[in-house]
Amino acid sequence: MTDPQIVLTERVQQALAHAFGTEHADADPLIRPSQFADFQANVAMSLAKRLRRAPREVAEAIKAELSDFPGTVEVSGPGFLNITLDDSWIESEARRMLTDPRLGVGTITPSQTVVIDYSAPNAAKEMHVGHLRTTIVGDSLARLHEHLGNTVIRQNHLGDWGTPFGMLIEHLLDIGEETAVAQLEAGMGTEFYQAARAKFESDDTFKLRARVRVTTLQSGDPDTMRLWHVFMDATVRYFNKLYTLLGVTLTDADLAGESMYNPMLEKTCDDLEASGAAVMSEGALCLFPPGFTGSDDKPLPLIIRKSDGGYGYASTDMAAIRYRVHDLKADRILYVVGSDQALHFRMVFASAQLAGWLPDTVSAEHVQIGMMLGKDGRRFKTRSGESVKLMDLLQEAIDRATAAIADRGYDETTRKEIAHAVGMGAVKYADLSVSHDSEYVFDFDRMLGFTGNTGPYMQYATARIRSIFRKAGVDPADATAPIVLAAPAERALGLHLLGFGELTSQVTAESEPHRLCAFLFQTASLYSTFYEECPVIKAPDPETRAYRLALCALTLRVLETGLDLLGVPVPERM
Ligand code: ARG
Repeated sequence: MTDPQIVLTERVQQALAHAFGTEHADADPLIRPSQFADFQANVAMSLAKRLRRAPREVAEAIKAELSDFPGTVEVSGPGFLNITLDDSWIESEARRMLTDPRLGVGTITPSQTVVIDYSAPNAAKEMHVGHLRTTIVGDSLARLHEHLGNTVIRQNHLGDWGTPFGMLIEHLLDIGEETAVAQLEAGMGTEFYQAARAKFESDDTFKLRARVRVTTLQSGDPDTMRLWHVFMDATVRYFNKLYTLLGVTLTDADLAGESMYNPMLEKTCDDLEASGAAVMSEGALCLFPPGFTGSDDKPLPLIIRKSDGGYGYASTDMAAIRYRVHDLKADRILYVVGSDQALHFRMVFASAQLAGWLPDTVSAEHVQIGMMLGKDGRRFKTRSGESVKLMDLLQEAIDRATAAIADRGYDETTRKEIAHAVGMGAVKYADLSVSHDSEYVFDFDRMLGFTGNTGPYMQYATARIRSIFRKAGVDPADATAPIVLAAPAERALGLHLLGFGELTSQVTAESEPHRLCAFLFQTASLYSTFYEECPVIKAPDPETRAYRLALCALTLRVLETGLDLLGVPVPERM
């Protein structure tokens, strides 16, 4: 374990146990980075209260226990412990990290099977920016879990089933398969849906056809199923274009839409009813998980079969959770879905527990995605009030990136590559860098900025280190000289880098990619100071040059690995 904060925590806990008894071994030493030392531990104050002793006295006792610690410990103020690590310790840890292919990132043992439900756009409605965010955050979580050695099963829970498909299929027949396919592939799903909807509302014969079609679809009629496939295949081809453009790892093998669960719904309901978990209420089959009440204080139902016999979103999610636990053998299930569905998922999880389908050994978590807002602070829409077509949005990001790098003298191919990486990197990083459950304002100007905590800044910082190696004529993999941390900027950078492994584990455990962004941003900032204060190529002597290149190489690998875990591409040069 290399992370200084973790090393310190363990050492101070040992000291506490030794000085005050083993019952204090688990106390949180409250270690935080400090402006007066590397770290400050505040545990003496809280412990002093419990022990009814003077805080400074307690602090001194801890200090005495840390006499063999590779650093200096000072007691200050009312009883703070200021801890400064020895340069030699940081150096040796940094050297070790440089030779570690995993950069101090541990693997989870035993490894877990993690089902990640993400992206999940609806075929019958528009795929909106909210889905963009669930796609990007979910994909980063998938990458993180895989990096830690977990088995990830991606589940793209497409909205590909339900009553609207009656009118969608009839509309497809009206305009002809070819036209329909062309529209859907071009991402005109919303227009398609709206046209079908308009006819449904104004034309009674169409309405009747649509109703009949729903029944034939549900009965699995081959002709209708073929038409459904024509519709869905074209829609999925559009989604795939977006995924490819974004560099998202979802493939057709990950498709597990609502339709997949259709054949399971009857049994799902029957089993829930037979076990007594579900009961009939006003003609509908319902689950009443404990602890959920409506505004009238009456128990809140999760309806799994409507009074007309139809199934809905909740029925599917009950079938899905059973499938994920029982068939996919999940240890952890992450639902990366908009925060507006929080109640739904709490009820689904509680219902699954009630039914005995979600044992304590499996954790089901809703990774809530906050709403994307426009600059006006309202739900993100185009100026004319329409929802934004994702392909257009991504294309605009690329166009703006193209303009931003226009004067850098690259040839056409390179320029296209960079613009693509910068455009997509900007959008993705913006989605990832704020905590997933907070709302955020979609703002091209800010996300494409080359300064601040943005994708382009992180890409630029990385590309700049690569260019140093090109100038030095050294392959980063060969920069293995023993790292020295003599200058303050070198020391600060080295100390920070040591935290990468532990941070990555925490970010994965807690589903918080934004903290990885913050760590990488801090890395880039510390590197930038180092670069200003410590010449690398023009270092005073060959030894200094060699170890500074090694520090550059370590920084580069942390940035590259971290950005890759976020799914943010890094162009070779910028
Ligand atoms: N298609 C849904 C939506 O757009 C999201 C599905 C999320 N996953 C699930 N298991 N319910 O809101």
